[in-house]
This record gives sequence, structure tokens and C-alpha cells, in this order.
Amino acid sequence: MDPVSPAWRGRRVVLGVSGGIAAYKAVELCRQMVDAGAHVAPVLTEDATRFIGALTFSALASEPAQTQLFTGATGDGSEHPIPHTRLGQSADVVVVAPATARLIAKYAAGLSDDLLTATLLATRAPVVLAPAMHTEMWEHPAVQENLTTLRRRGVHVVEPESGRLAGGDIGAGRLAAPEAILGAVLEVLTHGLDLAGVRVLVTAGGTREAIDPVRFIGNRSSGKMGHAVAERASARGAAVTLVTAAAAGLADSFAAGPVEVVPVVSAQEMHDAVLSRFDATDVVVMAAAVADFRPKVAALDKLKKADGAPEIVLEPTPDILAELGTVKRGQVLVGFAAETENVAVHAADKLARKNTDLLVANDVSDPQAGFEVDTNRAILLDSSGASEETPLLTKAALADVILDRVAALLGREPVNPHQEMR
Ligand code: C5P
Repeated sequence: MDPVSPAWRGRRVVLGVSGGIAAYKAVELCRQMVDAGAHVAPVLTEDATRFIGALTFSALASEPAQTQLFTGATGDGSEHPIPHTRLGQSADVVVVAPATARLIAKYAAGLSDDLLTATLLATRAPVVLAPAMHTEMWEHPAVQENLTTLRRRGVHVVEPESGRLAGGDIGAGRLAAPEAILGAVLEVLTHGLDLAGVRVLVTAGGTREAIDPVRFIGNRSSGKMGHAVAERASARGAAVTLVTAAAAGLADSFAAGPVEVVPVVSAQEMHDAVLSRFDATDVVVMAAAVADFRPKVAALDKLKKADGAPEIVLEPTPDILAELGTVKRGQVLVGFAAETENVAVHAADKLARKNTDLLVANDVSDPQAGFEVDTNRAILLDSSGASEETPLLTKAALADVILDRVAALLGREPVNPHQEMR
């Protein structure tokens, strides 16, 4: 981690620690955040103190660790009778690591019977939970349903890893690595979860249109841009569904995470997957390179070379984005335009024709932009006629630029003064 990142400096972090064996790892999180310049106030549950002494945190943190709901110190030496309101109100972010199954259940139910759970209810700051528990508990439907409830309320969950657990067992449930937790907290401090609760559907990859059981008409889209949008939208708090035609493997990073991945192959399958979810969606980002034409008939058996060159008759595929443009009811639609010449002109035409709110146009003949590479450069056009040209960015950074615009269209202004630090 950047030891003196300006995004951390002076930011007030409540570090909640609940009673799991991973509690000792929170000491390192505390130290690193203090080193980075944050003001860290540790709050330990009664059970956390069975694993690790409050004194350890007090020695490293910016103010004494607190454990009691009714008697606490303010940090300036004076007693504060009800520390949870002060802690909750003054926090820029509350992070709970480790979050036990019990802590998660109490928070989901709104039960505030100790200082940490009371602080969680008393705050309007974004909350990051890093669960840690045995695999059986982690996979229990009660735990997962509680997390779904919390995610829906905008809580950010840093998924646990697979690895060695208490007692020598190996499985899912080990507290995420410090970098992952600190990265999520930094994320919240820079973007403030500005898409919390927003339902975002992203399409990615190039569709494949079958000629026969082994051959298809495809395109060079790798799916990286769409996957970056899904990743960044999820990190900013959105509930994300990724309808992807990208090669298997690219979506692996989402395997254990909150992004719902819907694999599809053809334009028709993508059409059906998107349309069936459209009513329950607030934003659609059509980053996929959808085939415009498909073979009218796909042969049931492999075409034989000996039969000579086949004549393949093509027919148009459904234009998903154009259809969404005609049926949308307040959803924000983002389209992409991969062009090789006259980018801005073609893009403006597409924006109007498909009734989209934002169009991201790039010149795919530029070797640093477009297909397969990790960077992109784009022109963003909106329905007011305004256009913005980005410099060469990573696809993740371009995804953030697009999502900034989406957030603004949804009326979600950046809540964070460190936005420019990105
Ligand atoms: O017309 P064109 O294919 O250039 O438009 C590109 C935009 O339209 C992209 O956002 C793409 O995902 C979307 N599209 C679509 N359905 C198609 C073709 C393109 O949704 N059949």
C-alpha cells in the first residue's frame, strides 16, 4: 500500500473487530491505516478481546480501543457516556475485520447490543465487512442471506479467501488478505460507494453465431472492457449482473464474488438474457460486440469439406440496444461504438438511433485502444450533444469515467472530496 496516500490522510476509520481467530490480523490493518495517515478508532466486541487485547490496538491506533457501549473515552481524555453515536457520526468509513457470522446476523437484523453493532447502526458512513469463519458457517444459507440483505443496503463485503482455517481445516472462509481489505476501504474513501443499491447489467465479449456445431462467425472482442465495467461497478457498490460472451476464464475472478455471471454464446441468447432482466435493472452498459448478422440456418452436423464451399446466407440479429431504447422506462442506457473511421460522427448517429443516454466510442484501429489490449481511449457522447475525449486509460480507469457519468445521470454526485485522487 502507498504509505502516505493522500486519500487516507486524516480520514476517520472505525475499525470494528469481532470475535474470531482472525482478530489478530486486524492489528496489522490498524497499523497500516495509521501509517498511511488515517485516524483509526478501534472498537472490539467482548469476544474479540478473548483473542486479542484491546491494549494492543490502543498502542497502535489513533485513539484508545473501545469495547463498552456505555463507558468510553473520547480520545481526548474525557469520558463520553455514549461513544457509539460519536464514533458512528464522525466516521468516514466503518470497516469490520473480521466480521463473524454473529456480527453479520446482528447487523442484518438491526440488533445493537454492544458498542460495535450500535456504532454500525449509528453511522451513515459507508461500511466494509470482511467476513471470516469456518467454511460450513460461511456457506450456511443464513449467513449468505444476511450478507445479501446487507449488500442490498449498500454494505461492501470483502469476500473471504480459501485457505487454512482455525483447527487446521482448509476451505473458504479465511479473512481476505490485508491488501484486499485495505483496497476496499480505500475504494470507499475515494468513491464513497456512489452506486450503492443501483442494479447494473453489463454485457461483454463477442457473440458467436453458429455455422455448424464446430464453426461460428465471431469477432475480436475479448470482453475485457465489459468485465472492467462490471468489476468497477461492483466495487462502487452496485448490484451487478454480467451477461458475458467472453471466453471462459475471464469471468473466473467473479467466481466467489457478488457479481452474477450469466454466460451466453449467441446474440439471441444475449438478447434473451438482457431483455428478461431489463425491468429489474437501473443501468445497462452494452459493452459487448454483438454480431450484426448470423447464418440463417446453422447446420446440425459438421459441414464436410468434400461437399465444397458452403453458401452461408446471413440474416440480421436482434439489435439489443436499439430494442432497449424503445422499451426503456427510466433506465440509463450506455452503448459502445467500435469504429475505424469518423468515430465521433458515427457515434453521434448511433446515440440518436438507439436512444441511448451515453455512448462510448473508440477507434478500434488504434493499437492501444479497443480489442484485446488492456488500455482504451474513448469519446463519450451524451444525449445533450456534449462530448468528452479521454486520454489513453486502462480499461478499469475508463470504466470509472463511464460510471462517473452514469452516477451523475442517476443524480448520484460524488460524495467524496478525494475523487480527484483516483
Ligand atoms: O450498431 P453497432 O453494432 O455499431 O452498435 C454498437 C452498440 O450496440 C454496442 O453497445 C453493442 O453492444 C450494441 N448492439 C446490440 N445489438 C446488436 C448490435 C450491437 O445491442 N445486435
